[in-house]
Amino acid sequence: MEFYSIKGGNPLVGEVGISGAKNAALPILAAAIMTNETTVIENVPDVSDIRAILSAIRSIGAIVTETDRHTFKINGSQIHDIPVVDEAVKKIRGSYYLIGALLGKYHHASVTLPKGCNIGLRPIDQHVKGFRALGADVRIEHGMIVAEADELVGSHIYLDVVSVGATINIMMAASLAHGMTIIENAAKEPHVVDCANFLNSMGARIRGAGTDVIRIRGVESLHGSDYSIIPDMIEAGTFMFASAATRGDVTIHNVIPKHLESLTSKLEEIGCQIETSDEAVRVTANKRLLNTHVKTLPYPGFPTDMQPQITVILGLANGTSIVTESIFESRFKYVDELVRMGAQIKVEGNTAIVTGVPSYTGASITCPDLRAGAGLVIAALAAEGYSDVHDVIYIERGYEDFPEKLRSLGADIEVLDDEDPESMRRRMHLVS
Ligand code: UD1
Repeated sequence: MEFYSIKGGNPLVGEVGISGAKNAALPILAAAIMTNETTVIENVPDVSDIRAILSAIRSIGAIVTETDRHTFKINGSQIHDIPVVDEAVKKIRGSYYLIGALLGKYHHASVTLPKGCNIGLRPIDQHVKGFRALGADVRIEHGMIVAEADELVGSHIYLDVVSVGATINIMMAASLAHGMTIIENAAKEPHVVDCANFLNSMGARIRGAGTDVIRIRGVESLHGSDYSIIPDMIEAGTFMFASAATRGDVTIHNVIPKHLESLTSKLEEIGCQIETSDEAVRVTANKRLLNTHVKTLPYPGFPTDMQPQITVILGLANGTSIVTESIFESRFKYVDELVRMGAQIKVEGNTAIVTGVPSYTGASITCPDLRAGAGLVIAALAAEGYSDVHDVIYIERGYEDFPEKLRSLGADIEVLDDEDPESMRRRMHLVS
């Protein structure tokens, strides 16, 4: 299995470009099959979660043509086989978007239940509530979620929890329902807006995406469209925090600065300098950072997908910080790994009490999930000496060319394989 061998201590310096947003691309690629015409989707990130959803839509008959590494033509006119049982789909949470897409288009969806990241209980009751409100019969059979309707009829849906997935899924199905659907307490994340913009570019009539009330006037059918996916705010944030942790100076291009406000304000609060232009943000840190308190919240609050990364930098700050995770349970599994690097962090329920230490020391550590993996890489970049970061397969689900981009900023990072003798000889050579 591949792992990253990282020699910490180099400040990251330079410029890096951000890829398309994985969490926008997943629903957009699912929604692309809702028309029988061809759609062209640009700025698709080349990460394994995206390859999985593309494999799933191919498996049911969609024609997917790769124009270049980041551009795909999708045609859903030949879909022949509704059950989505593709092995790849079991591994990704975002496969649930195929339920909304297929239910909207064919009034019938049957998709293997999603797994996704190992960050605690992740129910889909709000998705089911929404589909039922639109008139679908929804049941779980043989590990599949099955949704069927004679017809879909617009409805007034109040989400009990703010859910990105449920908001987008209901929006997709409702786009092809009869009449008006109103989603209240909707998620406001940029990827909700991006997916609404894509559906609208296909002829849907969605208003209010980005606020907590979304109105969808159902249309008869959707048509083809050319669309470019927004930049990934979490990838951008990860590089911003990597710059801060290594006392670096990194300019991050192809970002929408508005999406990064909760991150830039925290970084300023703890002593970083931030310069923002139209499509770039520069993060500089030249001294030990200060402590603060953080609570994850739905957008525009501090994102749960940046919680491990901020905990890592607060672990090096001067003073004690409190990090509260309010979205997912079990999202502090990586703390045990950080403690092995010398961090002083105590987890009580959904709160981490972080006492800053002057530095981490390199260790052999294992990623428990995607974002925690990114956080551990940041810790290794800032640490004294060598770290081996294992189970990087999680990181590759959501970060395109992560080691290469870090290396271009001066990081000392190599991708090795613990089953390859040559790799292991190289590893011994590096640390000796
Ligand atoms: C998406 C993102 C994930 C991000 C999360 C929150 C994708 C593929 N994943 O996940 O990276 O961390 O948003 O920004 O886009 N909930 C329910 N019932 C439901 C649905 C959700 O109780 O039916 C709860 C969840 O357990 C969680 C909260 O609502 O506590 C938010 O979850 P949600 O926004 O749905 O996250 P995902 O869409 O799964």
